[in-house]
Amino acid sequence: MIDAIIDTDPGIDDALAILLALKSGRFRVHAMTTVAGNSPIEDTTANAEFLLALAGRGDIPLYTGARKPLQRDLVTAPVHGKGGLAGVRQDRPASLTDDAPAKTVEIVRDSTQPITLIALGPLTNVAQAILLDAEAMSRVQEIVVMGGTFGGPGNMPHGSEFNLYVDPEAADIVFRFPVRTAVVPLEVCDPLKFHSDYFKALRDEDIRRPVTRMMSGFYETLLSLKQEAGVALYDPITVYYAINPSAFKLTPRQISIGLDDSTDRGRTTGTAVIDSESSGLNFVAESLDLQAFRRDFIKLLNG
Ligand code: BDR
Ligand code: CA
Repeated sequence: MIDAIIDTDPGIDDALAILLALKSGRFRVHAMTTVAGNSPIEDTTANAEFLLALAGRGDIPLYTGARKPLQRDLVTAPVHGKGGLAGVRQDRPASLTDDAPAKTVEIVRDSTQPITLIALGPLTNVAQAILLDAEAMSRVQEIVVMGGTFGGPGNMPHGSEFNLYVDPEAADIVFRFPVRTAVVPLEVCDPLKFHSDYFKALRDEDIRRPVTRMMSGFYETLLSLKQEAGVALYDPITVYYAINPSAFKLTPRQISIGLDDSTDRGRTTGTAVIDSESSGLNFVAESLDLQAFRRDFIKLLNG
């Protein structure tokens, strides 16, 4: 069992990542925390509530965090459609607790088992938790991050990736923090494209219906925008890393992140680690056994 906190900004691929984590039975999820990213915090929180209920896990505590990045205005990703989940959730106001960083610190400090922190959105909450209590946060076993690109074209200006572009200052804090970080970048996930058809094998009809609707909506939107045939699912692959790290090839890298709006905001550079002193902190996934993920994803979602 992996003791985990999932920090997320659902988002369609976050939604599938959350369902993967909750249905797989591989995690003891101590809390879900929401952050503003793909959509404003009200939507990411209402979506997280909706997904916990969908998975039958309303018992998992949900805390809400940052309403905006540390130093910047929020940039959202309208590509996820109405409400951030292609309109599948009924409108319902979310109650905001604003305490995700404090609760993260508390859980990490008090847990008898080391916590894996899975970050699927901008890193604002994680950075705030570090700023709040670095000593407690140094007990985190591993921070697993969906973010960045190392040599790929990116999906935001300056060849950056969305999560790190939205809050580069937060990412900078996290990558400098002396806790092991495993980063799953865009290019590891991009070769694998999904269609709603893949999810027809979901056994639970109550989950199959909204998932296939979300995926069809996402597919249509991406097709109209980029003529892209199929949807890359970044966040579930990041959760899969926590489940099956041996399916990934990781390389130690010293990660630096651009902070300049006009030239390199959010752009990641991974320098090869040569001396042993700086090794052992940040690891970047370079490849994934794509067939293993395609095979396991649906099995794990089916529980
Ligand atoms: C990341 O950005 C978001 O839109 C997705 O949910 C994913 O976490 C990919 O760049
Ligand atoms: Ca996300």
